[in-house]
Amino acid sequence: MAQPLFRAPAGTRDILPPASARRRGLVRVFADLADRSGFSLLESPIFEELGVFQRLGANNDVVTKELFEFFDKGDPPRHLALRPELTAGVCRAFAEHRPTPPWKIWYSGPQFRYERPQAGRYRQFEQVGVETLGTDDPHADVEVVGLGVRFYEALGMRQVRLLINSLGDSESRPAYNAALAAYLQDRRGELSEQSLVTLERNPLRVLDSKREQDQPVIAEAPVMADFLSGASAEHFAAVRAGLDSLDAVYEVSPRLVRGLDYYTRTTFEFVADALDTAQNAVGGGGRYDGLVEELGGPPTPGIGFALGVDRILLACDAEDAFSGTAPPVEVFVVDVADGRSAVVLCDRLRQAGLGVDRAFDGRSMKAQMKRADRSGATVAVIVGPDEQAAGTATVRDMRPGGGQRQVAADDLVAAVTELLTGGVQ
Ligand code: HAM
Repeated sequence: MAQPLFRAPAGTRDILPPASARRRGLVRVFADLADRSGFSLLESPIFEELGVFQRLGANNDVVTKELFEFFDKGDPPRHLALRPELTAGVCRAFAEHRPTPPWKIWYSGPQFRYERPQAGRYRQFEQVGVETLGTDDPHADVEVVGLGVRFYEALGMRQVRLLINSLGDSESRPAYNAALAAYLQDRRGELSEQSLVTLERNPLRVLDSKREQDQPVIAEAPVMADFLSGASAEHFAAVRAGLDSLDAVYEVSPRLVRGLDYYTRTTFEFVADALDTAQNAVGGGGRYDGLVEELGGPPTPGIGFALGVDRILLACDAEDAFSGTAPPVEVFVVDVADGRSAVVLCDRLRQAGLGVDRAFDGRSMKAQMKRADRSGATVAVIVGPDEQAAGTATVRDMRPGGGQRQVAADDLVAAVTELLTGGVQ
């Protein structure tokens, strides 16, 4: 009977070479920038207790519809969920370990949301991000947002816009929520069916509707800016002034709301104009000054962002940025004796720090040389029965006009290194 052919689950993908190397390269660019900005790597679990994520909002789709939830085999079983994002886990870690603030961390890794899969929207996707906990200095906001701006620049992206807003604090929010709810109720006859449902649960989220029918109502909705407390308005002004001093280009987007409920004060999104509007957010973040406390920690302000690696790469494709492929191997070992020499020589060259590959299955000289060619290696090391008997190897320069010579196996590393660091021989 034929075996079933399994495929990757809906909404997930295999990232094959060379795309996998490009992704790793992108994460490396981010890690380098974050490290140089005083952020340290945090590795936290891929699943957490469900309660950690319930803090993202009781009426929020990410929590109510999109969590991958499961029970473990404990007695009694624990209710767990795969992480849909990392901010809640970071705050849980802060509350658990109480590091000295400010705690500046960066992260990268897969997130899981049970969404309707489409281009740029997956059930397993990757984020890179930073979080600064323990300070509400507006300059910390500027540092975080600025790091995002510089990251897209480092990738060579030119069509990413930064939108920012302030969602106010616990003082300003209730009055705004009430005014917004009253306005939306007043014009409910013009809203889409879906937005009417959202309106009952969380009026603010109606502003996030992308439906055409809702746009005229949203365009005239009251804006948070008119309701900000003095402290929040001052904070927002300081963030904008800081961004100005970096020559960071941004648009104040007075009706920008975010998909998660924990935000206070500064919120922002990075939008790629090269992508379709439905999935053009390539990153987003903001302040979440109450989240650590909600997770059992001390009152601790925080700000951060997460950038969607999958969408950034789609946007890079669309605007021809960041080709970032893997470096090819430097040396290819061709063994047409019995393969035993290749085992040892590959190991020796790799221990010397070189990138080395080889062929298997006792292929012919011609087939192995073809593989060597395709590998992009600069140097081929060739061992036949004569070389094996004499304890030597032929070192061939694969560059146009390159020659070849015999060396003793013991001198191989030196000969190959010389060839790689010198010119064509
Ligand atoms: P978020 O806006 O939900 O924020 O996600 C950030 C980014 O992740 C999005 O802009 C998008 O690029 C990417 N993303 C989200 N969902 C998907 C998906 N299904 N498929 C592909 N990419 C996706 C957060 O996650 C917050 N934790 C950000 C944050 C950090 N706020 C403060 N600190």
